Parts: sequence; structure tokens; C-alpha cells
Amino acid sequence: MQYIKAPMNYIGNKYRIIRQIQRWFPRDIDLMVDLFCGGCDVTFNTRANEHIANDLNFFVIEIYREFQRMGIGNAVVRIDQTIREWELTKENKEAYERFRAYYNKTKQPIDLYVLMCFSFNYQFRFNTAHEYNNPFGKNRSSFNDVMRENLMKLQGVIETVQYTAQDFREFDYSVMKAGDFLYADPPYLITCGSYNDGKRGFKGWGKQDEKDLCDILDQLSDRGIRFALSNVSHHKGEKNDILLNWKRSRKYHMHKIHFNYDNCNYHTKNSDNFTQEILITNY
Ligand SMILES: C[S@@+](CC[C@H](N)C(=O)[O-])C[C@H]1O[C@@H](n2cnc3c(N)ncnc32)[C@H](O)[C@@H]1O
Repeated sequence: MQYIKAPMNYIGNKYRIIRQIQRWFPRDIDLMVDLFCGGCDVTFNTRANEHIANDLNFFVIEIYREFQRMGIGNAVVRIDQTIREWELTKENKEAYERFRAYYNKTKQPIDLYVLMCFSFNYQFRFNTAHEYNNPFGKNRSSFNDVMRENLMKLQGVIETVQYTAQDFREFDYSVMKAGDFLYADPPYLITCGSYNDGKRGFKGWGKQDEKDLCDILDQLSDRGIRFALSNVSHHKGEKNDILLNWKRSRKYHMHKIHFNYDNCNYHTKNSDNFTQEILITNY
């Protein structure tokens, strides 16, 4: 199977381990809910009759909704026009900063996408006033051919996804029926990814969030809904006891995932430096 890469480098995206986690996904999915969809790498690559993609990050959800409204072809035309109009290049820091100031006044989702394409590490970073504040990706970031191609590949894929931007506690689970499938890829309690630091203008992820999510997954499981939860059980000498105890008490299944962090030393045998990525399923 040819995988579709989301047209953004979303922090914590599952693109590199999609094959591994999908080994454990059901094959016969009617409705799939991607509860913490982020850049949607998992949504776009999971076969189902219907998809709902949800994330608290309404900025990214709004971008996908805008792509749907415009159609991918028109979105690419608009992106190219914007790049020309604002003279955005890999080298033009002033143009980037002018465009960022403009976006922060006008808040058009498609402009945010363009901005992100020229930003440092292609990230969505906001201050507490919800202003985009990621710096310029000098000599590195642009709307390059790979991003363009990835975006074009969404034609015929994105149209069928229904997007919602809710806190996972507010999501309307009544749309799910027995046999449906929910994938949950929340921020990881024991790692310090940048959604945990509150810098994106959202509150972080704490123990109460973890417990609330476990409760919701239990309720869904009791209704015959299948779920798969991504997480890390161990990280740099820490262990996620909330999750491990919950999994044990409910007799859910745990699958080890080998995350190959390129250029990083996360996955070494050195126990202080060890990160164990896992997938917990109820089926
Ligand atoms: C690990 S990332 C998901 C990455 C995604 N699976 C991908 O492949 O791009 C976790 C996501 O959870 C979202 N999130 C954080 N708190 C949330 C909440 N309370 N409700 C819903 N989504 C939340 C973040 O915005 C972030 O996009």
C-alpha cells in the first residue's frame, strides 16, 4: 500500500510508524474516529467507509475544512498566488514576518498553511493570545515540491472526512455504534512534546486528562466499540503507571511499537534514555 503523507509536518505525527500501528487496526471499519487527529496522517491512511477527524487544535482543523471548501486544486492555485504576492522565499525573512503580521490580523486558514510552510520546522506555534509566533525557517522551509505533491494527493481523500474541533471530553460519541473504530493519539503524559508545554496557546496534558480519556475508552469499549490508543509506556527512566495499571485492570492488549527516531538516541538500550512506544487495543 502506498501511504499518503499529510501536507504538513505535524509534531508527533504517526507517519513513520503507520505501517506498524496499522498491523493492529481492524480491517473492516465502517466509521473511524481519529480523536486526536493532528495532521491526519492516520486518518488519511486508514480505510473506512466514513471518517471523523477531531482535534482541539482548531487552527489545523480549519485548514483542512478550507481545503475541503475550496477543493485541493483551487487551494494550490491560491497558495501559489499568495507566495507570489507576498514574495515569500526561503531567504526572505522580512516578507515572512510581514505576512505573519498580516495573518495574525486576518486569520485566514489558508494563509496559516502558507505561513507554516515557510516557518521554522514547519510548526504550528501560537502564543497565549493565539497569535502565530513561529519564526522564519531560513534557507530550509518552503512550499516545496514534496509538500505540493502531498497536498495534491489529498484529492479524492479529504472530501470524505468530517472535521470537528472539540476537546475529547466534548466529542459526540453517540455517533458511534458497536463495531466502529476509534483511534486515540493524545499528547503523551510522560514525554514533553510541545503540546504539553502550553506554548501553542492551549493548556497542556496532565494526569486528569489521562484518566478522563481512560474512562471514555472504557465506556466505548462497554458499548462494543473498538479502540486503539497510542502512547509511550516508558520514557527516560519514567513509567506511565496510570496507563499501565488501567490496561492491566481492564485486560486490554498492549503491542510494542519500535519508533525509529532518526538522528536521536531515544531508542537505545540505555535504560535512562529508553522510550517505549506502545499501542493499546481492546480487541
Ligand atoms: C500526538 S498528537 C496527534 C498526532 C496525529 N496522530 C498525527 O499523526 O499527526 C496529539 C494531538 O492531541 C491534540 N489535543 C491535545 N489536547 C486535546 C484535547 N483535550 N482534546 C482533543 N485533542 C487534543 C493536540 O492538538 C495534538 O494535535
